[in-house]
Amino acid sequence: MPEIIDLRSDTVTRPTPDMRRVMFEAEVGDDVFGDDPTVNRLQERVADLLGKEAALYAPSGTMVNQIALVCHTSPGDEVYCEAGCHVLNFESGAPAMLAGVLLATIQGVRGVFNAEQVEEKLRPPDHHFPPSRLIWVENTHNRAGGTIFPLEECHRLRRLADERGLGLHLDGARLWNAAAATGIPERELAAPFDSVNVCLSKGLGAPVGSLIAGSVDFINRAHRFRKRFGGGMRQAGIIAAAGLYALDHHRERLIEDHRRPRTLAEAVAELPAFSIDLEAVATNIVIFDSAPGGLTGEEIVERLKADGVLATYFGRTMVRLVTHLDVDDAGIERAIDVLRRNFG
Ligand SMILES: Cc1ncc(COP(=O)(O)O)c(C=O)c1O
Repeated sequence: MPEIIDLRSDTVTRPTPDMRRVMFEAEVGDDVFGDDPTVNRLQERVADLLGKEAALYAPSGTMVNQIALVCHTSPGDEVYCEAGCHVLNFESGAPAMLAGVLLATIQGVRGVFNAEQVEEKLRPPDHHFPPSRLIWVENTHNRAGGTIFPLEECHRLRRLADERGLGLHLDGARLWNAAAATGIPERELAAPFDSVNVCLSKGLGAPVGSLIAGSVDFINRAHRFRKRFGGGMRQAGIIAAAGLYALDHHRERLIEDHRRPRTLAEAVAELPAFSIDLEAVATNIVIFDSAPGGLTGEEIVERLKADGVLATYFGRTMVRLVTHLDVDDAGIERAIDVLRRNFG
């Protein structure tokens, strides 16, 4: 039986032997008391990388997204986000349940929207309307296919937020990929935002963990909400050590994960059963449409699985493939062979 090529997500990676070694050796303490030196080092490191005063470690990207929402808003407030964004589509309705906010959607192009589109949605200060409170950006944008939100537009959003007294948050679960692909340091990509979250468990290959960064005052409030959400962890240095290792050793190699999707996407484009927007392939994600061949995304995923390639069904006729630390050139060649054999 040939090895399975798992392209479902960049979250499927397993810790490398060296990463496991630093986890084994990590110095730990009780992080709920603030005593874990490895967690403290990770928080300082990420705050510095993102150019913010402070950062807080939490179990997942979903938790830091929800913490961001509750920190910036009050129940009944309105938040402006792109229609395909993670916080709206893939977090089980948490914004309605936890922060109690309205999410007003903006239709972007490949996940990108502009300040004028937000301005059109903003509410007059009249008590009939929900208070406009927060603008939400996702970079890179998962559902749009790992696309990059231009920095210049983020600065325009900053100006609008300042003029209208709004907060500006960045869901940077894959900000590392945006930095690797553009050559722009994370701190510059994060600069226009009041708060930023990043994940260590995606392209960087750590087994778990996300952080939220912002001002000291913002992170103090985030700390309270992490507690309320049950996200306080005790000897978390064991997993934080993997995060530090990933920051040191797995950021630069992300450009490899960005080269391989190009090869995959070009192979997909040659198959008449599929259509693909090649311009959307900017980092480590490939999304294609199975409508031309008349099959659903679910059917494509089943056929690929039977032949040893795992993909994600991402909408009725949409399929997602993601490259990562645990897939090499040979794996991509195998995946292309399987695609051609089944759908050529
Ligand atoms: C853009 C984005 N934000 C947040 C998350 C949530 O991360 P987690 O799965 O760690 O909850 C994801 C997960 O894929 C994501 O793609």
